[in-house]
Amino acid sequence: MEQQAKLTVLDVRARKSSGSMITSLTAYDYPWALLIDKAGIDIILVGDSLGMVVLGYEDTVAVTMNEMVHHTRAVSRAVKRSLVVGDMPFGSYNSSFEKAVENATRLIKEGGADSVKLEGGKNMAPVVETIVKAGIPVQGHIGLTPQTVSALGGYKAQGKSAEAARALIEDARALEDAGCFSIVLEAVTAQIARMVTEAVSIPTIGIGSGIHCDGQVLVTHDMVGLFDRFTPKFVKQYAKINESINQAIISYKEDVEKRRFPGEKHAFNIKADELEKV
Ligand code: KIV
Repeated sequence: MEQQAKLTVLDVRARKSSGSMITSLTAYDYPWALLIDKAGIDIILVGDSLGMVVLGYEDTVAVTMNEMVHHTRAVSRAVKRSLVVGDMPFGSYNSSFEKAVENATRLIKEGGADSVKLEGGKNMAPVVETIVKAGIPVQGHIGLTPQTVSALGGYKAQGKSAEAARALIEDARALEDAGCFSIVLEAVTAQIARMVTEAVSIPTIGIGSGIHCDGQVLVTHDMVGLFDRFTPKFVKQYAKINESINQAIISYKEDVEKRRFPGEKHAFNIKADELEKV
């Protein structure tokens, strides 16, 4: 694929009016970021889903700022075209405005991200506004917000009542007013995701929120079938790479045990005349 210029948050915002869909996937390290960037995906999210699909935590709550900075830096090193969004982990933006700006700055300065993402609607709008005023673009995230999943009563679809739907629309408008350049809508009923999308002038990026969003994002490890501990209903699995990897590991083990590996072509050889002198 021909190398194109690096995408900016302005390019992403402009997609709303152009109507061309925004593509987004998660990445947490250099090789995956290379693949995703090369495939022409618009936004690479270094999500705090890192905790579950890479670090083996039960949920995203335990993820630390240092872990996010470390993985965001690895991703940024690989990326030439995609817009890199670094996720702000739980506890990194809700204790004070100063801390929120300090941590968002770390993702940009140390992690090399182009922007940050944080979870929350109206309640987080003042934090978003403060970070945006500090010169850092922010992506919002409403609907199912995994960092506060216990307060939501579990991993459930959001926007199932008229009251919840109105609250989501208010949240989206508050985030737009606070300066977000886009908003992730997670597990929002398709009808309400459409209403939210129509209610704001910034793009919505859906995950489990139907077809009417301005873009789509998935956790890559779910999408390629690498992480199979749990696959949400809204994920379309385009591959089952855990099966191929598992098969490769078993074949390697058997080859080593049966002395079939390494073969002649995998070995280094000393010249015969040198060997005689040993
Ligand atoms: O952390 C993450 O990967 C996310 C996506 C699910 C949007 O927030």
